[in-house]
Amino acid sequence: MPAPGRVHSHTRRRLHRTLGALALAMLAFVSACGDDPASVGTPAPSLYDKYGGHATVVVVVDAFVARVAADARINAFFAETAADSVRLSRFKARLVEQVAGWMGGPEVYTGRDMVSAHRFMGVDDRAFDALVQDLVLTLRDAGVEEADIAALAPRVLALRGDIVVRANLP
Ligand code: HEM
Repeated sequence: MPAPGRVHSHTRRRLHRTLGALALAMLAFVSACGDDPASVGTPAPSLYDKYGGHATVVVVVDAFVARVAADARINAFFAETAADSVRLSRFKARLVEQVAGWMGGPEVYTGRDMVSAHRFMGVDDRAFDALVQDLVLTLRDAGVEEADIAALAPRVLALRGDIVVRANLP
C-alpha cells in the first residue's frame, strides 16, 4: 500500500491533467464560436447599438421630419402638425419610438396603431412612396449602410396596407 503522500500527489497529477484537457476543450469551443458570427458566443449588435442608440435615432427622426416638411409632394399632409410645436414634438417622439423599435432598441411604441393614426387622411400610394423615399434618403445621409437600410425596409413597407388602403375606408 503506497504512502498517503504518494496517493495524494498521484490524484493531484490526474486532476491537473483532467483540468488541462477541460481548459483546452473550452478554448477550442470558444475559438470555434468566434469563427461563426451567428453563434451564441458572438451575437451581432442590433442596428440600434451599431449606429449609436437613442441619440442617433433622435437625430435621424429630426432630419427625416425636416426632409418631409421640405418635400412638396407630401408636406401638405403635415401642415397642421408643423404649425403646432407641442403636436410636432409628440409626433417626433412617437416616430423615435417606432424607428428605435425597428432597429432593435428597447423603446416601446406608445402611439396609436397605424390604421387609426392615418384613417381618413387620404394617403395614397404615391404619398406613401414619397415618405418612404424620404426616410431612405435620410438614413443614407446619416451613414446607415445600404444592407442595413435593406434590412429595415420590410418593416416600413409592411405598413402600406394599414396606412394607404384601410386608412381610406370608413
Ligand atoms: C411607413 C410609413 C409611415 C409611418 C411609419 C408613420 C408613422 C406615424 C406615426 C408613428 C404617427 C403618430 C401616431 C400617433 O400620434 O399616435 C403618424 C401620424 C401621422 N402620419 Fe404617418 N406614418 C407613415 C406614413 C405616413 C404618410 C405616407 C403620411 C402622409 C403623406 C403620413 C402622415 C401622417 C400625419 C399627418 C400624422 C399626424 C401627425 C400629428 O400627430 O399631427 N404618415 N404617422
